Amino acid sequence: MLILGIETSCDETGASVVKHQKGKKTVKVLSNVVSSSLSLHAKTGGIIPEVAAREQIKFIIPVIKTALGEAGLNLSNPEIDAIALTYGPGLIGSLLVGVETAKTLSYVWNKKIIPVNHLIGHIYANFIEEEQKENIHFPAVCLVVSGGHTDLVILTQKNEIKWLGGTRDDAAGEALDKVGRLLNLPYPAGAKIEELAKKGKDIYKFPRPLIDSGDFDFSFSGLKTAVLREVKKIGKMDNQTVANLCMSVQSAVIDVLVKKTLKAANAYKSESILLSGGVAANSMLRFELRKAILSNNHKIKLHAPSPKYCTDNAAMIASAGSFIGEKVNFGRVEANPQLYFK
Ligand code: KG4
Ligand code: ZN
Repeated sequence: MLILGIETSCDETGASVVKHQKGKKTVKVLSNVVSSSLSLHAKTGGIIPEVAAREQIKFIIPVIKTALGEAGLNLSNPEIDAIALTYGPGLIGSLLVGVETAKTLSYVWNKKIIPVNHLIGHIYANFIEEEQKENIHFPAVCLVVSGGHTDLVILTQKNEIKWLGGTRDDAAGEALDKVGRLLNLPYPAGAKIEELAKKGKDIYKFPRPLIDSGDFDFSFSGLKTAVLREVKKIGKMDNQTVANLCMSVQSAVIDVLVKKTLKAANAYKSESILLSGGVAANSMLRFELRKAILSNNHKIKLHAPSPKYCTDNAAMIASAGSFIGEKVNFGRVEANPQLYFK
């Protein structure tokens, strides 16, 4: 089965073709093309939805054509089985570019659409062939940690997802991006904070919000205020101070993510932990989680996609569509910016 994935929920425009052989636990990526308008948003320190959607209108057809071409297919009549499409959550203008394009192609090609929740798409980046060296055992706890979301869910089987908890305010990536703005770092700041933190020390010991709460919820908005207070106190900052602030904020976020994820894995006797979303690209998060797992009583295996499948891409959408999706006629597909797990 060949699935074309389309992803346009935020500033990226992605298209990918994946192959799913019957009975196989993973999909093979034949192409994965992502075009981003990030350089335009870097100037403004955040995404301007209108600008993102306008750029996506320009990119969408060339990106789909390239993804089909790299998979040996053509735009006029590709031999695919269905189109897997992100229909939410996300920015409405951006979602509409993907949804309306997919509906038109569905009509022209006479192929059905598999609507995919973007968050569930992130999880299924873990079911891409080259990413998964060992079998994922169920129940598997999954941390979805991105610029828009921080959620803990459990997969009892491949197609059964239960929400355990999530952020009450800012997402982890959003908190890093806001701190990045305070430190004059380019948007989005997560990867830059990781890079600078390598030369820094956690000397500020920022608060670890909700770390010992009895639930699986998160709260990261207070972190930005704590950093702001410190930045005002410091005044003029040299490079080492910025590095120390980066390490301190990254450590605070990671400590909470690691402790809660492990707590969920123990509570549900999960043998697998799956990481997903843009912040999952962070190597310190992976290192600290692995370290915590080593000293845990019961055996757990950590799975994490390579960074290119952590940040927004269409291969993860095609992967989700081929495992859990329902094929529908294009008339039943609508963008839903408010879509969530619950
Ligand atoms: O999943 P994603 O591409 O888009 C959303 O669905 O939100 O995630 C983007 C987020 C941004 O907040 C970005 O700063 C963060 O992921 N991010 C990182 C890293 N790479 C991207 N955060 C920490 N470390 C990284 N290496
Ligand atoms: Zn995302």
